[in-house]
Amino acid sequence: MANRRLVLTRSAAIIGAASSSLLLPEIVRAQSGKVRVGFMLPYTGTFAQLGVAIENGFRMALNEQGGKLGGREVEFFKVDDESNPAKGIENASRLVERDKVDVLVGTVHSGVQMGIHKVARDTGVLNLIPNAGVHIATRAQCAPNVFRTSFSNSQPTLALGKAMVERGHKKAVWITWNYAAGDEAFEGFEKSYTEAGGTIIKKLGLPFPNVEFQALLTEIASLKPDAVACFFAGGGAAKFLRDFAAAGLNKNIQLYGSGFLTEGVLEAAGDAANGVLTTMHYSDSLDTPANKKFRLDYAKTFKLQPDVYAVQGYDTGLLLIKGANAVKGDLANKKALYAAMEGATIDSPRGKWTMSKAHNPVQDMYLRKVENKENKVIGIAQKAVADPATGCRMG
Ligand code: PHB
Repeated sequence: MANRRLVLTRSAAIIGAASSSLLLPEIVRAQSGKVRVGFMLPYTGTFAQLGVAIENGFRMALNEQGGKLGGREVEFFKVDDESNPAKGIENASRLVERDKVDVLVGTVHSGVQMGIHKVARDTGVLNLIPNAGVHIATRAQCAPNVFRTSFSNSQPTLALGKAMVERGHKKAVWITWNYAAGDEAFEGFEKSYTEAGGTIIKKLGLPFPNVEFQALLTEIASLKPDAVACFFAGGGAAKFLRDFAAAGLNKNIQLYGSGFLTEGVLEAAGDAANGVLTTMHYSDSLDTPANKKFRLDYAKTFKLQPDVYAVQGYDTGLLLIKGANAVKGDLANKKALYAAMEGATIDSPRGKWTMSKAHNPVQDMYLRKVENKENKVIGIAQKAVADPATGCRMG
């Protein structure tokens, strides 16, 4: 009797499992259940605030749709990637294999992105990149299931060199963290600055996420350049701005950067950031209805001022909404989903942008100046900047 009951219980469990999910064809589950969205972002370390801003922006876009994607409810899964490239593949695999996400939203750090990229290419999971600018993801290793809503690492600095030379700053030192994002930002800077007639007198670097800038600042002081150009971001950028000013360098040397230098750090940097000039695909002061509404809603919802990372997260949500609506929530219809996202024009707080054939934004780059804890736009440094997409054979 006991044995019989056990068998019955077991078979009931199997039937239960079959009817709930396990044995149903993938397609039925994909259309009827919740959309599973995985965030793989930094929630600790020097980029922690960036991860939070991206998630906030993404959730805000979905909330504007009643929290749904193509009519389906959404379930979220989260992994803190710690901006640690060594754990990139393992963390991405966890979201794909264990949590079975339909969409992986991530990440910030270019090195970690390479881990996600391998998993995305191996498994075919849809990956939306809300920040990391690593070139290869939309160049030689571009992929139908990988879309970037942010920038490629050289895009902001491709617009920087000309603005510097136009201001009479023809002799510059470059400084950054030595990893993909810094190296590739240099690529854009070197091209634009030397083509405009500038000379790079020294290239300085330190390992990510090291913030011991003192020796390098002493070296800059002795080199006496007209300007310093750099790539730093997050907590490290705030420290660089403070140290640069504390060393007195801001009195005689104009500081420039790709705009990440002054994003999300203006409170922490205080007066040290005043007057810093940067190029970026966003500015706090853009006088458009989309930006004004976004800034107001974000501040109300999260009690924080938004920055470029929040905008990128928001735009990632907008892109996914466009795709999901086009297939009425059937994310398994990949051909139609990807076609809708490829053809998308995003009406973003940064201004309207389009998706290139290699799946990277084509967007305007603004020249901005920090004034009173705000990134004020002072002009368009370059219109419709596209990454060269070298080696990408899509489209
Ligand atoms: C990157 O690693 O690609 C990266 C990180 C932070 C930024 C921009 C790029 O602000």
